[in-house]
Amino acid sequence: MRLRILTALTGVVCFAADYTPEAVEAGKAQFLDACAACHGTNGEGGIGPSLVDGREVRRADDEQLFKSIRQGVPGADMPPFSFPDQQVWNLVGFVRSLSAPAVEANLDGDVAAGEALFFGAGGCVECHRIRGRGGPLGPDLSRIGASRRIDQIREALLDPNARITAGFEAATLDGNVRAVVKNHTNFSAQVLDSFGQLHLLRGDELERLRFEGESWMPRDVATRLEDDLVRDLVAFLSRQAPR
Ligand code: HEC
Ligand code: HEC
Repeated sequence: MRLRILTALTGVVCFAADYTPEAVEAGKAQFLDACAACHGTNGEGGIGPSLVDGREVRRADDEQLFKSIRQGVPGADMPPFSFPDQQVWNLVGFVRSLSAPAVEANLDGDVAAGEALFFGAGGCVECHRIRGRGGPLGPDLSRIGASRRIDQIREALLDPNARITAGFEAATLDGNVRAVVKNHTNFSAQVLDSFGQLHLLRGDELERLRFEGESWMPRDVATRLEDDLVRDLVAFLSRQAPR
């Protein structure tokens, strides 16, 4: 089965085909009832394995997932579930959505509003590029919808220090220039400043560098933006997945 993305004229995006948003939503409710105790409320794992980044789920096709849920996993602690077929398919849809890249997820934000915010009042473009436009300090987000899951994008916005993207460790150069450290050893560092200038520091020159220990991402996205604006930004970023 294949997922198709439909973008309605309103900019509302849904993931169509075999798993309608309603099916995934129904699957989620069932999951909370029957599965979350072992797999975690967001499928992140617990007694049972993570269904978010587990290789098992990625490799299994839909029929195999169906079978695992219906019959359980013999010899392991995954019990069988005798739900009606439709309910098991809903669960399969939900389990799939957990590990899907953001572009395949079922979202209801306003993409156009998110884009306006990104390039405007949100201030994101100061540090991030999309399709060649924007500042150098943050990662290029032109393909973020294909390379990250929804929960990862949301976390990057709401809790940026939870996980810092490799090559974007924040540092200050010469006491007042914002920069990110691309890589460094005890003897040298490659540093990109907010003007887009690359510096190679060696030996004593490393003293020009002060590590911040926190991301340059604004810490106050959640408090500055209302929930629906954050949702719009996530929807816009999720669609950044050129073929
Ligand atoms: C009592 C704990 C428990 C419950 C409840 C449970 N699981 Fe599991 N689940 C497990 C364990 C343990 C495994 C790992 C099995 C193995 O070792 O392969 C697993 C594995 C899985 C897998 C991967 C199977 C595969 O293809 O290898 C899926 C998918 C899954 N569970 C979905 C669900 C769903 C959906 C529900 C709710 C209907 C559910 N589980 C309820 C414990 C549980
Ligand atoms: C002052 C510079 C700056 C601004 C402004 C900024 N960011 Fe960032 N952003 C960064 C840096 C640096 C990183 C990489 C470090 C990290 O993981 O937090 C990052 C990381 C991210 C990531 C994670 C990228 C990945 O690799 O997964 C996303 C998504 C993101 N920013 C979105 C935004 C959005 C949306 C805005 C506007 C609301 C914004 N950023 C504003 C600097 C900035």
